[in-house]
Amino acid sequence: MFEVLDRDGLARIGRFPTPHGTVETPVLLPVLHPLRSRSVVDGPELWSRWGVRALITSSYILYRDARLREEAVAHGIHHVTGFPGTIMTDSGAFQQHAYGHVEVSPPEILGFQDRIGSDVATVLDEFIEPDAPRASATRGVEETIRRSEAARALRGASLLAVPVQGGLFPQLRERSALAASGLGDILAVGGIVPLLERYRFRELVEVLAATRPHLAPEKPVHLFGMGHPMLFALGALFGGDLFDSSSYHKFARRESLLFPEGTVPLAALREEVCGCTLCAERPLLSLAHRPLPERVEHLTRHNLLQCLLEMRRVRQAIREGTLWELVERRATGHPALWAALGETYRHPEVFLPTEPWSRRTFRPIFPASFSRPSVVRFRRALAEYREGFSESRVGPLRALSPAGLATAPALENGPDGPLWEAPTPLGPVPLELTEIYPAGVLLGYPDDWEGLPQEDVHGSADPRTSPIPPSPPGPAEGEANAQRWGQRQVRAILQWTWGQAAARALLEMGLVPQYSRATGRLRQIRHGNVVLFVVGNDGLPRPTFQGGRALSGVLPPPSGRVVAHPDAAPFVAQGRSLFARHVTDRDPRIVPSFPVLVVDGSDGLLGVGVSLLAAHEMTRFTRGVAVRVTAHPSGRSGGSSGAAEPRGGEAGDGETDIGK
Ligand code: GUN
Ligand code: ZN
Repeated sequence: MFEVLDRDGLARIGRFPTPHGTVETPVLLPVLHPLRSRSVVDGPELWSRWGVRALITSSYILYRDARLREEAVAHGIHHVTGFPGTIMTDSGAFQQHAYGHVEVSPPEILGFQDRIGSDVATVLDEFIEPDAPRASATRGVEETIRRSEAARALRGASLLAVPVQGGLFPQLRERSALAASGLGDILAVGGIVPLLERYRFRELVEVLAATRPHLAPEKPVHLFGMGHPMLFALGALFGGDLFDSSSYHKFARRESLLFPEGTVPLAALREEVCGCTLCAERPLLSLAHRPLPERVEHLTRHNLLQCLLEMRRVRQAIREGTLWELVERRATGHPALWAALGETYRHPEVFLPTEPWSRRTFRPIFPASFSRPSVVRFRRALAEYREGFSESRVGPLRALSPAGLATAPALENGPDGPLWEAPTPLGPVPLELTEIYPAGVLLGYPDDWEGLPQEDVHGSADPRTSPIPPSPPGPAEGEANAQRWGQRQVRAILQWTWGQAAARALLEMGLVPQYSRATGRLRQIRHGNVVLFVVGNDGLPRPTFQGGRALSGVLPPPSGRVVAHPDAAPFVAQGRSLFARHVTDRDPRIVPSFPVLVVDGSDGLLGVGVSLLAAHEMTRFTRGVAVRVTAHPSGRSGGSSGAAEPRGGEAGDGETDIGK
């Protein structure tokens, strides 16, 4: 039922249906006290003034009070709260954490949530404290699993949120995540509030890194109590789809202002630092002289607005492919967040399976930005690429520039001659790969970025490199030299994408690179007049339909392929997207935004496209698009006559906009 529309890191722009509307993720569910008189901002205000479409409230608080309980059963939770949207209810586990016990049985509170018409009911889990010893944590996890199994068997009309516990023990988190994945509609990571309250964010990251890889990718993930806006970007990066917040009123009661950069006590303010609509109307400094209830009321709304705004920024960043940038900028706000970011960089394996093949930009926020998974993957692939060469040299070379290839160093022994490396912000990179993401989108940044640790600049360089300046070719050599460089660059980017054997086989067909006159960058790869590949601003090749044909001839299945169910084949051949539920097989190495061949059961090419899902996700999602088809045989410019170009392929220089 969960559908992914866009993504970055492990974050997803997604949606899923509930009885009271579709929830669009990532989303903040404000915590509403079930008693209307107990909240500054009530259900109707959340809905109409703040545009909130989903919230969370405590079923246990309602249940405990005989009068409220009866009213809720008689009229339903939507009536009691005055909120017409999606209502998730929590089970009382948090009260167990706060007060040490709850006075209700797990089946009783689950049945109650269902009876009052909750859209998402939560299993009553055993809250495991971060410092719980292993034995009691293990017992708690097993007990939560037993209750969740019973809940699954009992469940009514509500969706079921199944909590994941495990304290700080990675194996228990894994066990709990795997079990929840088989039982829940929503997977809710719990037991983290004490880490949040004590700013133990590095351990929070350890918990998320241990949990997230074992959560079913096709289900929404809730992070219980991740309510401070400074954590939203980080939580989303780790795949949090739902967040809940009581911090907007908790901090207001303490007279503190929430900002995505951190918390500011009202009493510490000397300047009007907030320009939000509320504070513009009612300056914060003037508030200091008002009675306490008035101060709390204003701060509650300011805090809520800051939370909602930050979640919008997170969503925007996911759509732009700049979520790492946002996480890094937020990490500068507090030393504990900084430590959490450092811990995040230590877990590239958590991100790599869904790390997009490309993005539109790479903006380093600080030298540590070069520890992002995209760089880790780039460096690993570079090391592999270098192995194919017996000799490499670092020259004072620039990326292939408008001046053209004629000035590139001569290839002394043909296309297999020595490797020439150019300095880039990521360290030396073979000249023919400098336009490739992420190096290619870093071209505006200085190669000798001040403050970049030396081992990061040069540490990854091949020990065989030596700083010999290349000899510029003489005028007569220029043309032949340019041709040799062109062949090497074409081979390099095809090899980067589809491997050495396929690249060599394609090159043997006789491929011709086309360079932009304006920028000197490689824009197309042709065979005769037929465009086979369009090269994006990220330096990476995407096949046209003809290119897909050529590729499928040289790339053995299942490489580069997604296999479509017979029911879907005719639609793909007309250019329609391939839905996940119609994927019958795929190359296990596919990551989001990778260019793929969509084939039928007998490996006949139906179309070429861009994957939205990673390989392991394609066979699990039952909703949404797996591959956006960009070229197909019956396309406008497709068919036998010429090239069906990917979206944007006709723009100007053959620029393509497919990378994120
Ligand atoms: N609210 C905050 N943390 C938790 C948790 O671990 N479990 C449940 N059910 N609710 C919570
Ligand atoms: Zn404000």
